[in-house]
Amino acid sequence: MKHNIILIGYMGSGKSTIAKELHRVTGMEVIDADAAIVEEQGRSINEIFQTDGETAFRDLETDLLRRLSERTSDYILSTGGGMPLREENRTILKNLGIVFFLKADTDTIFERIKEDTQRPLLQGTDQRAKIARMLEERTPIYECAADHVIETDGRTVNEIAWEIIHIRAIVKQGIF
Ligand code: S3P
Repeated sequence: MKHNIILIGYMGSGKSTIAKELHRVTGMEVIDADAAIVEEQGRSINEIFQTDGETAFRDLETDLLRRLSERTSDYILSTGGGMPLREENRTILKNLGIVFFLKADTDTIFERIKEDTQRPLLQGTDQRAKIARMLEERTPIYECAADHVIETDGRTVNEIAWEIIHIRAIVKQGIF
């Protein structure tokens, strides 16, 4: 069984920030799925969505996950918020490592992303309602994709990172 740390959750739930903290504490390599796609494509996420559409972006995500399946060394994967939506992706994610769902509520997310211009799915008016609606749709999917649900509201980045490290250590010992 692989013990990579896989972080899933909605946009603005803190995946990239927690991944950096986990790297700081453990030294494990971080793979940021969005950043990897942007680098490989030489285009921003906005450009990919605008030119090729969301389905094409989702295909790039699946392709990246298939390639990651070949890797063995320990890493932290920070996923894009929509990665677990496809059933194939959920299966691959579970096989890649221990999947942690970073759970945050609408207000927390809204505060973090209200100025954002880089996330195509959150542009336009009435962002808060959009977030609330998408969270309602996606939360059961994230829960189904996850091995562990990590509550993040009102907690520090360091606390969250240590909870993940402890769970991973226990899983590695075969106790969970
Ligand atoms: C998306 C989340 C984004 C990015 C794209 C689509 C989503 O990643 O992959 O804009 O569908 O939730 P972050 O969760 O890192 O913002």
